[in-house]
Amino acid sequence: MSFVRLSVAALCCTIVVLAGISVSYGQLDPSFYEDTCPKLQAIVLEVVHNALRSDRRIGASLIRLHFHDCFVQGCDASILLNKTDTIDSEQDAFPNVNSIRGLDVVNNIKSAVEAACPATVSCADILALAAEVSVVLAGGRGWRVPLGRRDSTTANRGLANANLPPPFFNLDKLKASFAAQGLNTTDLVALSGAHTFGRSHCRNFVDRLCNFSGTGQPDPTLNPWYLQKLRVICPQDGDGNNLTNLDLTTPDKFDKNYYTNLHFHAGLLNSDQVLFSTFGADTIPIVNSFARDTAPS
Ligand code: HEM
Ligand SMILES: *[C@@H]1O[C@H](CO)[C@@H](O)[C@H](O)[C@H]1NC(C)=O
Ligand SMILES: *[C@@H]1O[C@H](CO)[C@@H](O)[C@H](O)[C@H]1NC(C)=O
Ligand SMILES: *[C@@H]1O[C@H](CO)[C@@H](O)[C@H](O)[C@H]1NC(C)=O
Ligand SMILES: *[C@@H]1O[C@H](CO)[C@@H](O)[C@H](O)[C@H]1NC(C)=O
Repeated sequence: MSFVRLSVAALCCTIVVLAGISVSYGQLDPSFYEDTCPKLQAIVLEVVHNALRSDRRIGASLIRLHFHDCFVQGCDASILLNKTDTIDSEQDAFPNVNSIRGLDVVNNIKSAVEAACPATVSCADILALAAEVSVVLAGGRGWRVPLGRRDSTTANRGLANANLPPPFFNLDKLKASFAAQGLNTTDLVALSGAHTFGRSHCRNFVDRLCNFSGTGQPDPTLNPWYLQKLRVICPQDGDGNNLTNLDLTTPDKFDKNYYTNLHFHAGLLNSDQVLFSTFGADTIPIVNSFARDTAPS
């Protein structure tokens, strides 16, 4: 549900005009391509399904692309624009470089969609649909993706650096970063649940293992058993490039274990564990309700 809001909230100021049909300001609709590209979702599903055969991680990488697209001038596929003389590619922003994956799969989806419905479907909608089918293929619940986004002709590397939250942010900063996109605290906890699958490089959490906030000690909110396990994968003198699962228990499944892991102090990133371990935080009851698979009250 919050994915829908992520997409909708981030897309304002867009007048959607397609095939002579003019839809008013900022309105998206799941049936947008019903007549012009009826097989769209099936095509996206097939390409992602095939990609998963050789890369179990690709669904996670595709969702993350949608997130990193939406937080920078709305869900407008600006992340797909390569560097040129006039474009400062978002792909070169700090949170994306040596980290985002799946651009080749997005190209494959776009080719398959173009073959079926030429010059009809936006890349921004393809990113949104790829995120949804990735959740379904990982065993999660799908949603009716609102469609009709238009693609940007500009990108903004500076905004990608400014808007995408880094993993060391505390809870207040995470909230502020989401609020800047029109997303509230429930959205923050719900969307962080995408860390139920996929991987992270050691460099994003290695400070928690040995010298947390310059204390010379590990992060006290990190489960000691998990700490020992992570120290093997991410030695202090390592280069930070090893990968480990974001979800310790069910690494490739879209389920609620991301939230139950937080109860065991086994959130991988600081930005994960702070949702449950920040003293007195309003995110704690939200984590608890998602861990029970009930809507927050
Ligand atoms: C709350 C703030 C967030 C922070 C600080 C954050 C940070 C990170 C970091 C540091 C990584 C590891 C990247 C790497 O090592 O290459 C990562 C991976 C990932 N993030 Fe987030 N993230 C956040 C929110 C989100 C949201 C909202 C989504 C999607 C809705 C998301 C989806 C993912 C996925 C699926 C991966 C794994 C990607 C892969 O395996 O290729 N994250 N995130
Ligand atoms: C962007 O660069 C990648 C990798 O070099 C290439 O495969 C892709 O076709 C390029 N996309 C565009 C739109 O030029
Ligand atoms: C966030 O917004 C959603 C939808 O508008 C609402 O249901 C939820 O209660 C809000 N959460 C908070 C913490 O305000
Ligand atoms: C821990 O970090 C602090 C601050 O960055 C630094 O001054 C200190 O030397 C570090 N300690 C160790 C043991 O690396
Ligand atoms: C990568 O992880 C392995 C254990 O899985 C460890 O032996 C190795 O030292 C690590 N390498 C680096 C560069 O961190």
